[in-house]
Amino acid sequence: MKKKIIAYNRVEKPVLEDLQKKYDVQFFKNIDTKNDPDFLKHVGQAEGIIGLELEVDRELLERAPHLKIVSNVSVGYNNLHVEELNKRNIMATNTPGVLTDTVADTIFGILIATARRIPELDQFVKNGEWVTEAVGEEHFGMNVHHKKLGIIGMGRIGQAIAQRAHFGFDMDILYHSRTRKPDAEEKFAATYLDLYALLRESDFVCLITPLTPETKELIGKREFQLMKKSAIFINGSRGRTVVEQDLIKALQNGEIAAAGLDVFEKEPVDPNNPLLQMKNVVTTPHIGSSTHETELEMSELAAYNLEEALNGRKPPNLINPSVWNGKKA
Ligand code: DGY
Repeated sequence: MKKKIIAYNRVEKPVLEDLQKKYDVQFFKNIDTKNDPDFLKHVGQAEGIIGLELEVDRELLERAPHLKIVSNVSVGYNNLHVEELNKRNIMATNTPGVLTDTVADTIFGILIATARRIPELDQFVKNGEWVTEAVGEEHFGMNVHHKKLGIIGMGRIGQAIAQRAHFGFDMDILYHSRTRKPDAEEKFAATYLDLYALLRESDFVCLITPLTPETKELIGKREFQLMKKSAIFINGSRGRTVVEQDLIKALQNGEIAAAGLDVFEKEPVDPNNPLLQMKNVVTTPHIGSSTHETELEMSELAAYNLEEALNGRKPPNLINPSVWNGKKA
């Protein structure tokens, strides 16, 4: 009998088709894990779950006695209650590495788009409002090159952003991270600063840290007040690393100049969210890794992690190695 797995939006089609040949796959595009009778029926037999950002909490795990692996199709794993997985010896994996450059490209694109007001001016042209040959200073933007970029979270993606900024745009790199990164300091002439010093000095503040209990609501009222009035704030991490109401107020009060946001407190974002009415806010729908090539690679890696675990081998991207060590003992 084929092993049962649950695949959850998003697993790329060729990967899903391959899994369907080998496993009894139940695919869900959306799941209400608490109430969906179909999901509740299948999760009781599932040995694996693969997908993007399914909230895997105690309640779900209590309904899943046969579960061996939860394979995230993402590098972030704030959707997983790792302690609860550990208690039940369930492995959890993510997809680091394959998306690093793609996310860095996205974040840099958002940064430039915000500084140079590209979406706003695109609308200006398309609306037929471009009537004098040279635009006036009311449409000028802010330089990116040679400015100070403060990166909060200097992991793989933070470093890929620093690489683009340093080599491509001659920016000064400031960073704040849980640990010092001597490699990054050497390669990108990056300067480590405490958080408040970074906020005070940066022209661009780029938040790219994972969401953890320590980084939840890391940036709020006080942090926005410390930033320069001309600062541009970029969030490519998770919405909940920021107090969104405080961001809205900081923009309304002119405490910062603009924001570029790929992530929101609630996703999909509420259409009435005041951020969506602001011309100086550039938004994208959490598309950091969303290219055809990278999404496929992420799905492939996640499927590999899943299959290794189901075949009794240690998956390469194990988030909770203590579970594996416990098994071997
Ligand atoms: C990630 O991989 O964590 C991206 O943000 C997609 O969720």
